[in-house]
Amino acid sequence: MFNRNRLLYNLCKYKVSNNRAIITQQILTANHKNNITGINHSPVSGYSHTVASKHQYKVVETIAPVNKFVNRTHTCGELTINNVGEKVHLCGWLEFQRMGKFLVLRDAYGSIQVIVSDDNSLVQNINHLPYETVISVTGTVVARPVGQENKKMKTGEIEIQLEALEVLNIATPQLPFSIREYNKAKEALRMQYRYLALRFPEMQRNLRLRSNVLMKMREYLINNCDFVDVETPTLFKSTPGGAREFVVPTRHPGQFYSLVQSPQQFKQLLMIGGIDRYFQIARCYRDEGSRHDRQPEFTQLDIEMSFINREGLIEMIEGLLLHSWPPELSSIKVPFDHITYNDAMELYGSEQPDLRIPYNIQNITELIKQSSTLMDKTDFEHNTFGSYAVVIPNSQDCLINSLKSQFNDMAKKQFPGAKLVQEKVTGDSWNSKLIKLFSEDVTKNIADKLNVKEGDTLFISFGEKADAQQIVGKLRVEYTNVLESKGRKIRSSDYLFLWVVDFPLFSPGETKDTLASTHHPFTQPHPDDMDLISRDPLKVRGLHYDLVLNGSEIGGGSIRIHNPALQTKIFDMLDIDKSQMYHLLEALASGAPPHGGIALGLDRLTCLLCNAQSIRDVIAFPKTMEGRDLMSGAPVPISSEEMEAYHIKTINV
Ligand code: AMO
Repeated sequence: MFNRNRLLYNLCKYKVSNNRAIITQQILTANHKNNITGINHSPVSGYSHTVASKHQYKVVETIAPVNKFVNRTHTCGELTINNVGEKVHLCGWLEFQRMGKFLVLRDAYGSIQVIVSDDNSLVQNINHLPYETVISVTGTVVARPVGQENKKMKTGEIEIQLEALEVLNIATPQLPFSIREYNKAKEALRMQYRYLALRFPEMQRNLRLRSNVLMKMREYLINNCDFVDVETPTLFKSTPGGAREFVVPTRHPGQFYSLVQSPQQFKQLLMIGGIDRYFQIARCYRDEGSRHDRQPEFTQLDIEMSFINREGLIEMIEGLLLHSWPPELSSIKVPFDHITYNDAMELYGSEQPDLRIPYNIQNITELIKQSSTLMDKTDFEHNTFGSYAVVIPNSQDCLINSLKSQFNDMAKKQFPGAKLVQEKVTGDSWNSKLIKLFSEDVTKNIADKLNVKEGDTLFISFGEKADAQQIVGKLRVEYTNVLESKGRKIRSSDYLFLWVVDFPLFSPGETKDTLASTHHPFTQPHPDDMDLISRDPLKVRGLHYDLVLNGSEIGGGSIRIHNPALQTKIFDMLDIDKSQMYHLLEALASGAPPHGGIALGLDRLTCLLCNAQSIRDVIAFPKTMEGRDLMSGAPVPISSEEMEAYHIKTINV
């Protein structure tokens, strides 16, 4: 039998020929009394020694890194026709078996067929082994008989002729789902049995791709750019003006921590402390509704630099993404395009434009304003009135109708300030409803401007400008999703990055005449807009930038306020209690360097890189939409003793 470290120090002699190492001698093992001596090895994928010179013998290690320190010669995914004749020892899960004669052995790297000859006494035992039992097999690599190759399998040209099999841990026969039938297990079940779901090749690929990207990011930041990786606390106090935070009770009556929504304040304090190039792979917590791209607990690549401006920061992030981009994906080009927030809303009706969708929205406000039939009858505010259109070419009625029912209700709730009309361009009287609403002339002008054609569907929104933009912006995306769910390919398969800049610093607050931060209260106002701060604050732009990839916001950051007087003024304008932020104001007054930074949402970025449906598919142990961990059942009640220790009482409602 093989023992655990047997292959650890396998050494062999290679004769160097044409800069390739070819094995000329049998493996000598540290444990050569074991029966491994006698196995011929060929160079394996991990062989990476630089050979000294031609025709020279050199002792090199033969084990692929992935097989070092463990009891196997190869993984289940690496053997090919070139290994025929080799004796191998593999470990993994029994994924499938037929009549005890054909087994599929799977590990994290792939799967391989094992064949048991009829006269092998193991056939009977194997026949009764439940799937997902952990086994190790020893055997010889053989070519599959001609015509029996499996083109769908990476190892489909070969199989292992079984010589010995060891059961390492028997699995229960009542597993909730089979790893062969990915689509048959519903997500809730896969989340409940997450450790099983992690065995699916998709999850294996996603988590490994994520790990590789993070490794390259660290390499770029530390080795190429001299950043310092600093860990910051997650138990902190509430930060005003951001996302809702999770509260953590303490043993001090009436006193609570808040879990950090991001390390924002700490990274600024690090700049003040002279750690002038900081990064952290940081865990963040936000008590907000979960969505396909949102989790209550998520990970950011958090970055801050002193003496940086927007352009420098953007260049650094583009270099980071270029360096860490997975080589197996289509390549990306830097610099990425920039768009102002206002242009993004004008052209795409969204601050996260998906540039892969070939149709944009169009501003038809001036045309619609000429419609006295509409404008005279309604109480639209002329100053804030806007009208936008999107034309979906070659649209199909059934798809439009299926979208309409879901979309209209949502639009009424989310964008109550605007109305939406739609017309399918078909036949001569397609526009009768529009003529009634806007008049004949206005309708003709719209059709001319939008250049509508037979078969197109025209959507027009009108009302409060921001709502009118966003309704058609959302339609543009939702309709494309519907088309693609029916098999039409609309989006290109490129990775299209976009920097969105010049966001408004403030947004209208929840109550009349109050202000809220568009991002967070630490963002520096645009230097050209300083004189507007007191006069017309909603017109002030912030030095904020968002990074958007294929319609998803994967990062956001800003140049920060480093002047304590300006920070105090902004807190006042936002009605933020300064006594809660005294530590930061005091720190800014102690010689704060100008600084700025960004945070990339690593779950969202990896989700796009893996082409996964949801960020839950790139997180090992995600939470449900309701913030629950289905595996452990958390959150769960705590004992009355703990409740008492933490001064908690529940109220029955
Ligand atoms: P922001 O709030 O924009 O900025 O977050 C940065 C990025 O984090 C990702 N993200 C999320 N990912 C998953 N689930 C969530 N609930 C979630 N919320 C945000 C997004 C987003 O772009 N401190 C600032 C950064 C800075 O100013 O430097 C911040 O956290 O991809």
